[in-house]
Amino acid sequence: MKIVGISPLDKDSTVCLVIDGRVVGAIAEERLSRVKMHAGFPYNALTELLRLHDLTADDIDSVAYAFEDWEEETRLIDEALAEHKHQESVKPPTDIAASMSCLPEQPKRNYAIPGLEESALYINKSVMHTTAYRWLSTNAALSSFFSSRQLNRWRDTASAAHRKWSQELDKGLCHFGLENKLKRVDHHLTHAANAYLTSGFDDALIVTLDGYGSGLGGSVSVGRNGGIERLHSLPYPTSLGEFYERVTSSLGFTPGRHEGKIVGLAAYESPEILYDTVRTYFEGTGESLRYRQPHNFALSRHLASQFAKPTVAAAYQKVLEAVACEYIEPFVRKTGISNIVLSGGVVANVKANQRIFEIDGIEQIFIHPNMGDGGCSIGAALVLADACKPVPRDRIEDVYWGQEFTNEEIETVLKETGVSYRRTDDVDLETAALLADGHIVARFAGRMEYGPRSLGNRSILYHAKDPEVNLWLNTQLNRTEFMPFAPATLHEERETCYLNIAGAEHAASFMTITFDCTETMKDQSPAAVHIDGTARPQLVSERSNPGFYRVLTEYHRLTGIPSVINTSFNMHEEPIVCSPADAVRAFQLGKLPYMAIGPFIVNAEN
Ligand SMILES: [Fe+2]
Repeated sequence: MKIVGISPLDKDSTVCLVIDGRVVGAIAEERLSRVKMHAGFPYNALTELLRLHDLTADDIDSVAYAFEDWEEETRLIDEALAEHKHQESVKPPTDIAASMSCLPEQPKRNYAIPGLEESALYINKSVMHTTAYRWLSTNAALSSFFSSRQLNRWRDTASAAHRKWSQELDKGLCHFGLENKLKRVDHHLTHAANAYLTSGFDDALIVTLDGYGSGLGGSVSVGRNGGIERLHSLPYPTSLGEFYERVTSSLGFTPGRHEGKIVGLAAYESPEILYDTVRTYFEGTGESLRYRQPHNFALSRHLASQFAKPTVAAAYQKVLEAVACEYIEPFVRKTGISNIVLSGGVVANVKANQRIFEIDGIEQIFIHPNMGDGGCSIGAALVLADACKPVPRDRIEDVYWGQEFTNEEIETVLKETGVSYRRTDDVDLETAALLADGHIVARFAGRMEYGPRSLGNRSILYHAKDPEVNLWLNTQLNRTEFMPFAPATLHEERETCYLNIAGAEHAASFMTITFDCTETMKDQSPAAVHIDGTARPQLVSERSNPGFYRVLTEYHRLTGIPSVINTSFNMHEEPIVCSPADAVRAFQLGKLPYMAIGPFIVNAEN
């Protein structure tokens, strides 16, 4: 049974191939089109996936897509919004308006945030804008009217978008002759399936949290012996994704793309200054959780016009963590299940995942490595596969599911581009030696990673001994990040470096959760430790990536340090490199000194 899974086309469209219940390949269109978070049918990725597996469209049994058709999605939206409007009428936002009317003072602070100039700490808006934001936040009647109007607008835009992407899907499938093989899957079921069916757990509490999908902003299910039974559907617009996108946009960043910057900024300020204010947007816990005034963007913009960015970011981050935990905790108590698996765009928030792991009663955690909508391709395909025959539920050891290039293909590109290179007998040992000598090495090896993180095969590596490295490397790669680069750490040395990691090792294989660092880690690898003492590691084992493991093992032998910085191999706002030609281009644009590519070492200085 061969099933193609396709993720929602509105962003990061990704295609996967599942054969007899196992994922054998997955490629995001962005890696081939070179357009970050590519929206549209994944023509290139599907063509490439079929070619790599020597298949034609005729060989495919079914195509799974991670949304219902546009008419059903619109019906689900209308159903959810009708209930929300009823609740808003029962409890108008007078308490929110009161809280927004008496804001605390912004404490005097001298922030030293690497990469953020003093002048960029505050949002400067015109008097007209700031006045409008204040009125729409502090006057309950105006606030209600505005929120309701924005919600209606969102409904129309979302319905039109579903219609547009349905047409795009039909056109793309017709192009491949696959139009009669399409089956649609509820969006949050695809998130639930990708988390549970790749976790290796027999029993697990499955939590999905995202912006919007099939009428919902989240769900809780129980996975047991391969079956998934939903316990609760969190109706949109109660959506933690929507909540966090709101602050991302209000602080001048791109929602759906730059949420990680908010997580980084949040650590620079006390969350308590605005916590109580932001907390009023939510009420209830567990099944009764409700997000009020969800589309009143004036609330976050009013705060952003009055306070420094870290002050606002810190409050939103803490509220996100608190509300996520308060939603989940009652289900942990009710079911008594100690394994939790997570999926959905909200759980790209590595700090929130650390808090969820700390919930009483949770002993093991797994987060699907491609937790955003790109990962729904795999969830949708596994749901269809499982309906035919229970899929194998071995835990995934790695996600190197993309393209691979032969040594000949790599050398052809090196010759064509005229870079200085040489073949080496042992590229991994030489990479480790270069790192130990203090050099930056871009590593291009084996199959490309699936999901948003570079996991060693399309990575830039560097020692983590000096925090100044972050600023220097960000400048070199034309990036702005407020969180340090992540460390790749030898699996065997995890407890030397991180506290309370037992039960989260599998999640940590994919850089999906933070941990508090040990004093040894802070001493040895300060460049990978955030200002709050946490890091978001990739644990590397021989089983998950033998070549990268050899690099780290040799580096450890040479230096006594089991971690190196691992950041994605790409230039700012570009997708992670896919092909040797992409790698050479990023290597040259970033003015990097060394690249280990296949069995070759490229040296920019020769
Ligand atoms: Fe989603």
